[in-house]
Amino acid sequence: MQSPIRKRLLEAFTNANGEFLSGQALADILGCSRTAVWKHIEELRKEGFELEAVRKKGYRIISTMDRVTENEIRLGLKTSKLGSMIQYLDTIDSTQKVAHQLAQEGCPEGTIVVAEEQTNGRGRLTRHWHSPKFTGIWMSIVLRPKLPPFKAPQFTLITAVAVVQAIEQLCDLQPEIKWPNDILIKGKKVTGILTELQADSDKIHSIIIGIGINVNQTREDFPEELHSVATSIAIENGGKLSRSILIQQILANLEKYYQIYLEKGFAPLKLLWESYAISIGKDIIARTVNEVIAGKAIGISDEGVLKIQDKNGVIHDIYSADIEV
Ligand code: BTN
Repeated sequence: MQSPIRKRLLEAFTNANGEFLSGQALADILGCSRTAVWKHIEELRKEGFELEAVRKKGYRIISTMDRVTENEIRLGLKTSKLGSMIQYLDTIDSTQKVAHQLAQEGCPEGTIVVAEEQTNGRGRLTRHWHSPKFTGIWMSIVLRPKLPPFKAPQFTLITAVAVVQAIEQLCDLQPEIKWPNDILIKGKKVTGILTELQADSDKIHSIIIGIGINVNQTREDFPEELHSVATSIAIENGGKLSRSILIQQILANLEKYYQIYLEKGFAPLKLLWESYAISIGKDIIARTVNEVIAGKAIGISDEGVLKIQDKNGVIHDIYSADIEV
């Protein structure tokens, strides 16, 4: 885990917005000697950060490594709660599993677990989630809203909005949401969201939101069977994107929407979600565990439940299904 001085040093560089910070200014902000500042800066340099040191001006730091280490994410992170604790792993079976464990041990709200690679990434309905090294974002976020468990699906929808907007903010792309948890670009899946709970029957202890984003994969990086259904941001955007910058933007958006949700409820976010949804107003087929329902998707309820009107005018509430648009 990172030292508090290192954390505050990276925050100071983040707040400086690319301006130089003198050794003395840093020592004052951190409450330590200039020698201690220099020691931390040297360690960041050894880790691969590029450091510019100019006499009479001070230091400026940039990252050029495209890793998703704690330091990389922290340099540029503008949130107060999300990312307060960052658990970085090079290789892990599933970040979701680690986040469950940390949540059980009482980690702070906003803890994130992020890995360069997952060897057993989990998708919805016990599917496998392909998570090759250094190419995507494989991240789990722990939240602790004081809510009953039936509200949990709303978090999948809020997260989807935060991710879609982050992609829009950083790329010239228009991703769309397919209920409940898929984000598509030009009809192919780029992101999946897996929301899991630790809860009693009437109270959530923690929500663990798993986000998998195909960021920098080439077409060849995907297994053959995924070619027709999956894509990456790099393929669609025509170039690579910094994964740590995308993580920072997602966390900033999600923190904002989580705050709105806690203050005003789901209604304002429901409207936003519907503006990005591809299925609403269209004829779709929903395959649930028990049945197949065909009809027009007429919207989502305040709880995030999909409403489908069949050809006889009957409205069906869909809690979990695979959707064909
Ligand atoms: C889906 O569309 O089926 C959901 C995919 C969720 C994948 C993410 S990657 C990070 C987190 N860890 C996991 O094992 N799964 C989620």
